[in-house]
Amino acid sequence: MNNVTIDGIGVEVFEGATILDAAEAAGVRIPTLCYLKGRNAIGSCRVCVVDVRDEDRPVPACTTTVRDGMVVVTQSRELTGYRRIALELIVADLEAEAADDLFAASKGDESELKRLCDEYDVSKPAFSPVRKREPVLDGNPFLIYDPNLCIACQRCVGTCNNAARNHTLQTRRRGVRTVIDAPFGSDWKQSACESCGNCAQACPTGALKTKRRASYYADDATKVLTTCPHCGVGCQLNLVVEDGRIVDAEGAAGPSNKSLLCVKGRSASYGFVDSPDRIRTPLVKNALTGEFEAATWDEALDLVARRLAGLRDGYGGGSLAAFACSRSTNEDVYLFQKMARTAFRTNNIDNCARV
Ligand code: FES
Repeated sequence: MNNVTIDGIGVEVFEGATILDAAEAAGVRIPTLCYLKGRNAIGSCRVCVVDVRDEDRPVPACTTTVRDGMVVVTQSRELTGYRRIALELIVADLEAEAADDLFAASKGDESELKRLCDEYDVSKPAFSPVRKREPVLDGNPFLIYDPNLCIACQRCVGTCNNAARNHTLQTRRRGVRTVIDAPFGSDWKQSACESCGNCAQACPTGALKTKRRASYYADDATKVLTTCPHCGVGCQLNLVVEDGRIVDAEGAAGPSNKSLLCVKGRSASYGFVDSPDRIRTPLVKNALTGEFEAATWDEALDLVARRLAGLRDGYGGGSLAAFACSRSTNEDVYLFQKMARTAFRTNNIDNCARV
């Protein structure tokens, strides 16, 4: 263990911990941009610089490991100046129109980069942007990539490779010429992309985003934390609700998903809620007409219970089997097998939770 002092607060951290880890343990916030915990720590943006006693210049908190006795200062006029210059350089490297859009974003729809710029009083690029406009890639049905807004922080690449493990997004070239190879053009189907959208959620500028993100104002929306309905993994997600309708889903930090979602969780976990095809009441087939007719839950459940009990009493419990859906929770599946064993009197039990 190493003893470290962050802004006068003493903490004990494991060998190998970074200054950022130590600051988190001390409850001290250090601004970050390119860093994403467990996914990306390339130390390129320099927004997280801090002073370390006996070091002659600031160091990035996200990539500098602590040593025993280290004394760190995270706030000072000089550090604020360094961070401001780092942000000014970053936005100066955006294409001119994209930079205008970044600063014009309305409250609620602003990106993480814009919020950092606001915090450090950066309201325009300090130098004239020189980047040429590049075509936006929108061949993927769910995702869109605007290279003009990309700062090559590589959070999307780290998320795709180190967390989602799809290994689809890569970087090309090196240094200041680094660009993201995002296969979202017309040939996107040739790539290994699963359209999970975790890259879009990781992007701090809006260069990579879901297409539906343009259809609502985040300011008017509320978020409701819930569990993904698709399988038994139990991923946590936030449903984004605007005017009483679900308009989007975002990964939330649950123990089993750590903010990640698959394509079903992100893009197919809510559209059915308002579907006109949705069945909203139980339907019982009329034996005379063969047509399904709406019934109450009591009528439907009484009918099912009567028929199942009839089979059990007439042919024995072995004539029945219970097969649970993979979308059920552990608790629901536990109750289901209990019902099968006690009420159906059968051990014929299975579940399709192959995911
Ligand atoms: Fe540390 Fe970018 S967040 S260098």
